[in-house]
Amino acid sequence: MNDLQGRRIVLGVTGGIAAYKACELARLIGKAGADVDVVMTEAATHFVAPLTFQALTGRPVHVSLWETDQANGMAHIDLVRGAAAVLIAPATADFIAKLAHGFADDLLSSLCLARECPLLVAPAMNRQMWAHPATQRNVAQLRNDGVEILGPASGEQACGEMGEGRMLEAEELCDALIAHLQPKLLAGKRVVLTAGPTHEPLDPVRVLTNMSSGKMGFALARACAEAGASVTLVAGPVCLPTPAGVTRIDVRSAFEMRDAVLAALPTDIFVSVAAVADYRPAAPATHKIKKGAERLTLELVANPDILAEIAARPDAPLCVGFAAESQNLAEYAEAKRRAKKLPLIVGNLVQDGLGGETNQITLFDAAGSHPLPAGDKLTLARAIVRHIAEMIHA
Ligand code: PMT
Repeated sequence: MNDLQGRRIVLGVTGGIAAYKACELARLIGKAGADVDVVMTEAATHFVAPLTFQALTGRPVHVSLWETDQANGMAHIDLVRGAAAVLIAPATADFIAKLAHGFADDLLSSLCLARECPLLVAPAMNRQMWAHPATQRNVAQLRNDGVEILGPASGEQACGEMGEGRMLEAEELCDALIAHLQPKLLAGKRVVLTAGPTHEPLDPVRVLTNMSSGKMGFALARACAEAGASVTLVAGPVCLPTPAGVTRIDVRSAFEMRDAVLAALPTDIFVSVAAVADYRPAAPATHKIKKGAERLTLELVANPDILAEIAARPDAPLCVGFAAESQNLAEYAEAKRRAKKLPLIVGNLVQDGLGGETNQITLFDAAGSHPLPAGDKLTLARAIVRHIAEMIHA
């Protein structure tokens, strides 16, 4: 995905062992479409050679404030002019202290002072250095100055100790950078979403379910969080990582999903992406059903319709439904929208089943239908967020 197409990112690398992870980070940011200008402190060059970054980014790597190849001799200004963001990864305790106090005694610290673009900092250090009151004071100062602090994570450290201070993984940092640069269309809004299938128990070891993977709902949760919303994701049984900044509540059955959604209210927006089972076994067996009879008849009863219930509340949030259809998309989706009294329903054609990486969707609202170009689920999720934002701000 070209999430950073046309952007230039300054990647600052300071002198810690996590500098080796910055190589993969430079590659990922470049793969996302950005031009990556790597600026290293002198200490960082003891861990990774500048040539490594040069080979990965295809651009010169900058180390010294005294570079003479810049016509005006002002690398610290030229590098940040027009940059979309500066990301420092890894950021040592020493460099964080420098930033907090506004020092500018090398190229990287100077350009951090000279920038107008956002600054993101990924700390990496020993757990005691991270926990030290001086570091915590400096980090609080940076947050106060509008700097986004990414991590650190907890776990095994290069020194062999366990604790907080590990730099986030390259993929997490690249995702955080992409998220930071998304327009904050839902800033200040609360969003509750459902995603995935539900499991309706037949007996202690068997369930009725469907093929929903949760990918569409998780992509939408990520897109809402990127857009600045406070997001609660009620997830059926799926094996997907929780998007950054999203509060996740795991449930199994439609009843559990309903209870979790009701507990998450009030909200400004409710997006029901889950493929909730319409029916459940009327009387799940207490013990495993034994094989024997040639025929087995199951009695099913209707599950509560969570979306219809939320949309009918007097304090209903803006409710967005989904409709997966294998034919007559417009007719069936619009019928569901009207039946559940929804301002917006997202229709998707699922002729090849569920669970894929891409989707083909059309939005249906009071103004008519709005087909979107087929694409990956995150790109489509961001387009849905733009549509929801227009509706909520109208
Ligand atoms: O998870 P993926 O593999 O990425 O696939 C995504 C998806 C295809 C499951 C998703 O995009 C989708 O279309 N979900 C809705 C599936 C569907 O057709 O639902 P439905 O027609 O049964 O219900 C219509 C709407 O009512 C949906 O918003 C559903 O969440 C909601 N509903 C339905 C039944 C019920 N008991 N409670 C509900 O809230």
